[in-house]
Amino acid sequence: MNSAASMPHDTARQHVSGSARYVDDIPTPQGTLHLAFGLSPIAAGGLTSVELSAVRAFDGVRLVLEAKDLPFTNDVSPSMHDEPLLAATTIHYAGQPIFLVVADSHHTARKAARFAKIEIDETPPILTIEQALKAESRFEDGPRIYSKGDSERALPKALNHLNGSLNVGGQEHFYLEGQAALAIPGDQGDMVVHSSTQHPTEIQHKVSEALNISQHAVRVEVRRMGGGFGGKESQGNALAVACALAAMITGKPCKMRYDRDDDFIITGKRHDCRVDYQVGFDPLGRVEALEFIHYFRCGWAQDLSLPVADRAMLHADNAYDLPHVKITSHRLKTNTQSATAFRGFGGPQGMIGIERVMDHIAHELNLDPAHVRQVNYYPEMSTHAEVRAPATTPYKMEVTDFILGDMTHSLLESSDYLTRKSEVARWNADNLLLKRGIAFSPVKFGISFTLTHLNQAGALVQIYMDGSVLINHGGTEMGQGLFQKVSQVAARSLGVTQSSIRPSATDTSKVPNTSATAASSGTDLNGMAIQAACKTLRSRLQHHLADAYDCPADSILFEAGQVVGPNFNLSWAGVVKSAYEARISLSATGFYKTPDIEWDRIKGEGRPFLYFAYGASVTEVVIDTLTGENRILRCDILHDCGTSLNPALDIGQIEGGFVQGAGWLTTEELVWDDRGQLKTHAPSTYKIPACSDRPEAFNVSLWQGANPEQTIYRSKAVGEPPFMHGISAYLALSNAISTCGVHYPDLQAPATTEEVFNAIKRAQGRAI
Ligand code: MTE
Ligand code: MOS
Repeated sequence: MNSAASMPHDTARQHVSGSARYVDDIPTPQGTLHLAFGLSPIAAGGLTSVELSAVRAFDGVRLVLEAKDLPFTNDVSPSMHDEPLLAATTIHYAGQPIFLVVADSHHTARKAARFAKIEIDETPPILTIEQALKAESRFEDGPRIYSKGDSERALPKALNHLNGSLNVGGQEHFYLEGQAALAIPGDQGDMVVHSSTQHPTEIQHKVSEALNISQHAVRVEVRRMGGGFGGKESQGNALAVACALAAMITGKPCKMRYDRDDDFIITGKRHDCRVDYQVGFDPLGRVEALEFIHYFRCGWAQDLSLPVADRAMLHADNAYDLPHVKITSHRLKTNTQSATAFRGFGGPQGMIGIERVMDHIAHELNLDPAHVRQVNYYPEMSTHAEVRAPATTPYKMEVTDFILGDMTHSLLESSDYLTRKSEVARWNADNLLLKRGIAFSPVKFGISFTLTHLNQAGALVQIYMDGSVLINHGGTEMGQGLFQKVSQVAARSLGVTQSSIRPSATDTSKVPNTSATAASSGTDLNGMAIQAACKTLRSRLQHHLADAYDCPADSILFEAGQVVGPNFNLSWAGVVKSAYEARISLSATGFYKTPDIEWDRIKGEGRPFLYFAYGASVTEVVIDTLTGENRILRCDILHDCGTSLNPALDIGQIEGGFVQGAGWLTTEELVWDDRGQLKTHAPSTYKIPACSDRPEAFNVSLWQGANPEQTIYRSKAVGEPPFMHGISAYLALSNAISTCGVHYPDLQAPATTEEVFNAIKRAQGRAI
């Protein structure tokens, strides 16, 4: 069985036919109760009175809980204990849950919640980056700073200088399946929780804290999510804890799912931010010194903001060898939803900063932007050994696997970049109102959790008497195809057919102490753990057969459901049966931890990543200069998945990543009013890309090259890196706008129709 085969997602048919079960589709036991939160209408203030008698009296309401009614802890934060399930005294954002209604139906719970009378002593909210800076409202004592060389000395010495500022918008996850949980109480005070979460172990921990029971009494099961995108790393905690508490108190199964508007209003999103830059460069466009200041709007609670903002700093260099660089990062506390993980985990925000700098330099020197990027690249993997000591990142990790030089040549050629660039220029000369733009951008993305201890995984593999194999690991399936890829690893390791393998739902009682499925590391970690378990089983079977047939154990091969030795040829099922009869254990666990990584986030030094995943894209757009309307015409991507485990799924991740990244930087705009109310909280006001928004011509190919690190079958992680190809769509829009005036386009993100229109006016030097 070839593990590198393009095969469909294991439940693709169920997804498209509507038979795949999500939390809300699980048949519920009779008497199940339904939950809804009552939310704060106000962004900041003190809670002076909560009057819920009308809610309690509402027909069908069984229980109403406030903060003071919670029996043990009141915390659903991932680690900082700064995130109450229900607001007790202080209101931190508009949409914060204040009370919980438990009723006979979903509809009743939601309706009853409207009868609350809540009084809040309103205080002026801190909403913007500027307001937070002024109030010194932040999560760490001061800014975090990572640096290399001496940018203060080197900056003034450079011949050319530029500075600028880029506002980067946030992003709503808009997973198709909203947040949901179902808790079923057991008979010894145990609790089973079905949750739409990327982090079953964290759900287990939060439920165990809230119910004051041991972790062994809580079992969390996740078959699949209808998308997570980082929005289900921590944001499912509140629903799961609420359901488990209500189930404990009432003795009934309890279920909660957010209505789409509530999901927007309650949960955290991608961090919006501002990136300021100051760069010094030589006449060839080479960066001599660079200083970035990141301002991250983290919202009201810490959640994952520190590691997200750290990762932005770790990607501020992207693909470029910067001799003198300083990155300063402010983590600002505001009265808005608590910003959280979102595909790329801060990396995209860091990366767009330097891509904007490269573009700005090219514009200033009137050089080709792809060329300016190339002259700033890290040295190539193939050359660094002979030529010089490896280059280091701003956080002093050696870059030894760089392949973007070769990838860039290949993509610029396959996408016909130079020819199309001149065609675009000709076309623009002929067309007064419509203007085209084209842009190239590279991606270098670090793979591993930056919190080193999270880089571990466990697996459990069970062979049944008919030879069928059930596999389980700590990773969760959210549409990315993790279960399919890991099944392929199991089939290859055991030498059985793909149909012999069945992945089972993620379950904290099968594999304990797992990390979130995040940081794109799902396959890297769980694939290795599954392989380890399979190796153990295979070795047991080999020794059993070696005894029986009197041959060396390592002469026995497993391939496509056959087991072949020097003097026998048996079916897999036959071998399994004989092993069972010989009383050989047919289940095994496996474990993996990523080697060679270490990281000091305070100093900003070490090797946080095992390796980098690379990619590059060329995107062409057209804009209407009278309205700002725009379309993506063509996108070419060359992406590095190492030795791909499943090219079809990897290409799917790349296409989806690009479209989601382009959405972030173009149509997806979050708007809060000056009282902190999120105005864009439904698909009617928040525009994610539709099928018709994808590029008319979309050419994705995979780079052919193995991962130099010993990852699972030398593959590379693919979940997040392609998201950042969306940056080339933003740059292409900026390129189109640059034909409208002499000034470097001051295009902010997201580059909505309105923003494109305004940027044209600014480029023309006209007041808006
Ligand atoms: N793809 C789909 N279809 N749905 C998702 O929710 N999440 C992304 C990415 N691709 C996501 C997705 C994010 S944020 C991450 S970290 C990775 O998948 C997680 O899965 P992996 O580690 O198995 O790649
Ligand atoms: Mo992905 S943002 O690491 O869940």
